[in-house]
Order: sequence, then structure tokens, then C-alpha cells
Amino acid sequence: MSALRIAPSLLAADFARLADALLIAEEGGADLIHVDVMDGHFVPNLTIGPPVVRSLRAATRRALDVHLMIDTPERSLAEYLDAGADWISVHVEATSHLQRCLSEIRKAGARAGAVLNPATPPGALAACWNDLDYAVVMSVNPGWGGQPLLPGSIEKIRRLRAEASEAGVRLMVEVDGGVDANNAGALAAAGAEILVAGTAIYGAGDPAGAIGQLRAAAEGVRA
Ligand code: DX5
Ligand code: ZN
Repeated sequence: MSALRIAPSLLAADFARLADALLIAEEGGADLIHVDVMDGHFVPNLTIGPPVVRSLRAATRRALDVHLMIDTPERSLAEYLDAGADWISVHVEATSHLQRCLSEIRKAGARAGAVLNPATPPGALAACWNDLDYAVVMSVNPGWGGQPLLPGSIEKIRRLRAEASEAGVRLMVEVDGGVDANNAGALAAAGAEILVAGTAIYGAGDPAGAIGQLRAAAEGVRA
């Protein structure tokens, strides 16, 4: 099995204590910090923008995985890249210029990802396989944390993996939404290599310990 990455989502943390949330992630051995950017248009909720990404970048050595839930991301990619985003994913539903977005991200030296909403099939990525470092399967409808994982997501990860390998493409698969220690094993077995988790980490009594539990569950080991 390839390297498994755990990406705590700051959306479930206390926004007045983001520095503490970063320390918890580091203490628990997180690999990436997942940053949810929402614009109040593509999704109804509104969160943070480039200035907060810039401050987060200065406050941790972990890579920032910035998930843009915004319309026409091509208009603001440069700002997120300049703010120090290390990984950036854009929704295929939010842009008519997916390939342009991905190549702009890569040109700046960041990792480029494309996100699929639950109703968008893996085939939507087919024209851009070679422009992608990672593909994100939304396992909830984006907008809020704390929703249960949609059960079809596991089969979708499997299909995405199969279609990519049929095309001879090597990319990482990330899953985002409703991930917890109960489903992490099945998600990893289906081919997810990056597990995003908000509530299962920051909503836990021992958030740093919860990261280890997720990793153990995904690796099929008893915590
Ligand atoms: C949902 C966000 C997710 C969310 C995951 O719109 O993209 O990253 O924070 O949170 P949980 O793990 O609580 O579903
Ligand atoms: Zn997200």
C-alpha cells in the first residue's frame, strides 16, 4: 500500500484558535493541513480567504492542502498560490477552465487537485488525467462539516482508481467528508490515500489521539 496521509480539516476547529488546531495536528502526526475555502456562492457557507491561508502558512511546517469551494477559481488562484498554499484543489463543477487551473497551480510549484461533487462521475477528469497530482472524492455534499459519509463514495473511489489505472495514470486519491475511524479502513481499501477528517478529529475528546486512531483504522491495525 502506498503512503497514507491524514489531513485534519480546520473547518471543525475553533476559528479563534487556529494556531492551537495546527499544534494538535502536528502533535498527532498529521501529514497535511486541510483548509476549506467557501465563497457563499458555490456553496452557501462562507469561511476564509488568502490572508488566513498566509497566516496559517507562517504558523506550521506541514503542507497546506487548500480546498477551494469557490466559483470560477481561476480568478483567485494567484492569490492562494501567493499566500503559500502547497496543494490546491478546485471543483470541476466550478470552472469551465479546469485544465488552465491545474496547469497554473503546477506552474507555481504547488500540487494540483480536482474535486468531484457526489453527483459528478470520475469520467469528468478524463481529459485532465495528466494535469493532476490528486483527485478528491467528496463523500458529502460540500458546505458543512459533520455530515455522514455518503455510502456510494466507497464504490466511486474504486471506480476512479480503476479508470485512472486503465488510462495509465498515477495520481493520489483524497476523500473528504464524514471520514471517521469506522469507515477509514474501507476507504483506504477502496484506494483512498489521503483521508480528510474534521469532526472525527477536532470534535473528539483527544484530537491528537484521534489522528492516530484514524491512521491505525486505515492501515487495518487495531488502535
Ligand atoms: C466539507 C468540507 C470538508 C469538511 C469535512 O464541505 O470540504 O473538508 O470539513 O468535515 P467532516 O470530517 O466533519 O465531514
Ligand atoms: Zn474540504
